[in-house]
Amino acid sequence: MATPNEILQNNRRWSEKIRAQDPHFFERLFRQQAPKYLWIGCSDSRVPANQIMDMDPGEVFVHRNISNLVLHSDMNCLSVLQFAVDVLKVEHIMIVGHYGCGGVGAALHGDRLGLIDNWLRYIGDTMERHRKLMDATAPAGRHDRLCELNVIEQVANAAHTTIVRDAWDRGQPLTVHGWCYGLSDGCIHDLGMDVARFDALDTGYSHALAQLTATPT
Ligand code: CO
Repeated sequence: MATPNEILQNNRRWSEKIRAQDPHFFERLFRQQAPKYLWIGCSDSRVPANQIMDMDPGEVFVHRNISNLVLHSDMNCLSVLQFAVDVLKVEHIMIVGHYGCGGVGAALHGDRLGLIDNWLRYIGDTMERHRKLMDATAPAGRHDRLCELNVIEQVANAAHTTIVRDAWDRGQPLTVHGWCYGLSDGCIHDLGMDVARFDALDTGYSHALAQLTATPT
């Protein structure tokens, strides 16, 4: 494990390496950030947005919380969403879950971990909502299935916010995507839910669910 001092030294080396490749890199970023993407993902240390999308600093605006939830009462997530959509004018919002998500697993098994149980309760609600599909999934696949269902619900949540709806109403180009990342191979699985208009939400939701039903985990 690197000590904090070693991390600071690593940072200096990284900064020098970048400037050697592109002397004006940080100057440009300092003047303005203009990312076209908002990533809403899990806090899990294995799912870093920039590295997974192979993007440089400045290319993606990021919000992460445990199990990538978009809740209508979460001022932190809503503020990120509002700033990204209204001010930065991102064109794509990726809601990115990951297979094997610990928060989703805790909700699935009803683990008692403390305060976090209340946060994860929303995933319990998702499990209840999709009880039939969960029951039809082999027990070994239920954890991953719930990770996917959670993403689908969060795409719907994002699309229902006043922020996204107002952007669509004024004709701003904005698409909400549902992805699930594989820790075992580093690949993002596209859940086939790409919502670019409010009236396309129901079809996108049903399409993504139908794909899940057709795909054994
Ligand atoms: Co996770």
